[in-house]
Amino acid sequence: MYDLIVRAGQLLTLEGPKGPRTGEYASHLGILENGAVAIEDGGIAEVGKASEIGSAARNIIEWKGLVMPGFVDPHTHAVFSGSREDELKMKIEGRTYLEILQTGGGILRTVRATRKADFQQLLRETKMRADTMLLYGTTTAEMKSGYGLDLETEMKMLDVISEIGRTHPIDTVPTFLGAHALPPEFSDRDEYIDFLIGDVMPEAKGKARFADIFCEKGVFDAEQSRRYLSAAKKYGMIPKIHADEIENLGGVRVGAELGAISAEHLVRTSDEEIELMAEKGMIADLLPGTPHMLLSDHYAPARKFIERGVPVALATDLNPNCWTESMQMVINLASLRMRMSPEEAIVASTINAAYSIGMGDEIGSLEPGKKADLTLLSVPNHMHIPYHFGVNLVDTVIKDGKVVVRDGQISV
Ligand code: NIG
Ligand code: FE
Repeated sequence: MYDLIVRAGQLLTLEGPKGPRTGEYASHLGILENGAVAIEDGGIAEVGKASEIGSAARNIIEWKGLVMPGFVDPHTHAVFSGSREDELKMKIEGRTYLEILQTGGGILRTVRATRKADFQQLLRETKMRADTMLLYGTTTAEMKSGYGLDLETEMKMLDVISEIGRTHPIDTVPTFLGAHALPPEFSDRDEYIDFLIGDVMPEAKGKARFADIFCEKGVFDAEQSRRYLSAAKKYGMIPKIHADEIENLGGVRVGAELGAISAEHLVRTSDEEIELMAEKGMIADLLPGTPHMLLSDHYAPARKFIERGVPVALATDLNPNCWTESMQMVINLASLRMRMSPEEAIVASTINAAYSIGMGDEIGSLEPGKKADLTLLSVPNHMHIPYHFGVNLVDTVIKDGKVVVRDGQISV
């Protein structure tokens, strides 16, 4: 007798070969009309046609609409204090993101607020965002440090990420992003990188699964990225890199050289670098919310990545410059602004997103042996996700086999 059976009008299993999805599998949803998922001990026991799975369960949810894996958000800066709504007005008036950063706004302003907030305050603010993510169907999220830029606050951020993972239905994956900006205490970028390597990484070791750096003009260059990520590897952290968000400084090559699992943003990535990523099997984490909120018309060339066989993942980039918890919104932008098909965008938001945070064997598809993380949407089929935009289509969320959202409300 199963704990729970979920029956669906349309079930997206995302079944397929092991490994990040490319080629024909970049758009393969494994659709079952009138499908069902049987759940036992928080995991998926069986998946198939509802008629084959029967009704031997303590509980049955009969859902006429769409059932799919919980969204995986593989790139967020969800831990921060305060907000920067007035900067949107500056951007509308024509000031650029880097100009705002250079005059002490942007990331540095959030650093000041995040340093001031004590652990409980930061936890409260992050929990509100984790709640919203869950309500919008996200069941696992990567979260980065990077608004501390000193030992104490970077550790406070990593501890908040771990506490959310322990106490909130959402699973969190921690990334150390000490190299997010140059803090006011330093005037030399190389000295700051030395400080991160010598003083902060030994403490981040064991708390963070990944290390990330903002490789960007006026922030950190390719050589600094190489030094930082090589050191992080020695501390057991897997490299990731923010590359080509605004300008191309060669971050993809550094990532490829060091075996980075993914490179992120990739708005200005060259054809040669796209080939290199395909060769290395590096995942392209594309974040279309960011150009949207930078008032830019330049989006990552998603079609090129897909056509050349680079696995594509999507993420919110949730941060005070691009504040959305909604993977549904990201799918809308990916389809409309990067011309990803609804199917490609869903693969990129589930199974490929899971692989880009090293969790493709546990989550991201509805296959026996994986965690029972499911999202139930009030739509008849998957094409409604990019189509019916700006509202929350999620009704029910199941995490580790338990109903955690019901009727659009958190139920735990
Ligand atoms: O990925 N680009 C660097 N970091 C974030 C923005 C952080 C911020 O503006 O607070 C990003 O876009
Ligand atoms: Fe980011």
